[in-house]
Amino acid sequence: MTTAPPRPLVAGNWKMNGLASALAEAATVRDALGRAGAGAPEVMICPPATLLAPLAAVAQGSALAMGAQDCHASASGAHTGDISAEMIKDTGATAVIVGHSERRADHGELDRVVRAKAAAAHRAGLTAIVCIGETKGERLAGLTLGVVDRQLAGSLPETVTAANTVVAYEPIWAIGTGLTPSPEDVAEVHQAIRAHLTQRFSPSGGGIRILYGGSVKPANARELLSLPNVNGALVGGASLKADDFLAIIAAYV
Ligand code: 13P
Repeated sequence: MTTAPPRPLVAGNWKMNGLASALAEAATVRDALGRAGAGAPEVMICPPATLLAPLAAVAQGSALAMGAQDCHASASGAHTGDISAEMIKDTGATAVIVGHSERRADHGELDRVVRAKAAAAHRAGLTAIVCIGETKGERLAGLTLGVVDRQLAGSLPETVTAANTVVAYEPIWAIGTGLTPSPEDVAEVHQAIRAHLTQRFSPSGGGIRILYGGSVKPANARELLSLPNVNGALVGGASLKADDFLAIIAAYV
């Protein structure tokens, strides 16, 4: 069965960056999107939790979407410092990143934790942006496709649909390093991810967006985003400045 390619998504992950002054960058992105023609991708900013409510006010009524960077698996309860998917939804966000490699490394999040968080996002009516990706050692050992397949199997809950889930392939060694896999390597991994999704989530697997993340910048966006089964980008450092982020989005127009 052939499926029309899904609308691309360019999402900015601000990570632990951004004070209230950074909202001006989001406003610049919002205003540029207001002038964008048809064919523009969906654009999202995922600020730190402290900026969710103020960024919602900046984005209200515009084409700029907003996501959070993590959620707890429970809806509420005695979990000091955590926020739930329901709370994120309550701010006006439409998505939440789960299983980012920095969460996996800093907080020991295993696939089953990521899976519970993705299920929580679905429960709350949010899109789960589920991150996977291999280490440098795994890449050099030729283990990438196996690692990615295992992470998909463990991190995606049964509630996945094309509407409520985005997969982000982020090779850990490419994050924040300026390094990227070759276009052929990106295409190979995205093809393998697509095969997993179509096999497991028939018939919606063909419509689940697969983003590439890891040192995406204006200079390489056009090449990376034109690859088969690359349905957008998850952008870290280059999403912090509106001009760079907009130049990446411009790869589509
Ligand atoms: P960089 O774009 O800074 O490499 O970060 C990628 C990333 O981790 C996005 O989630």
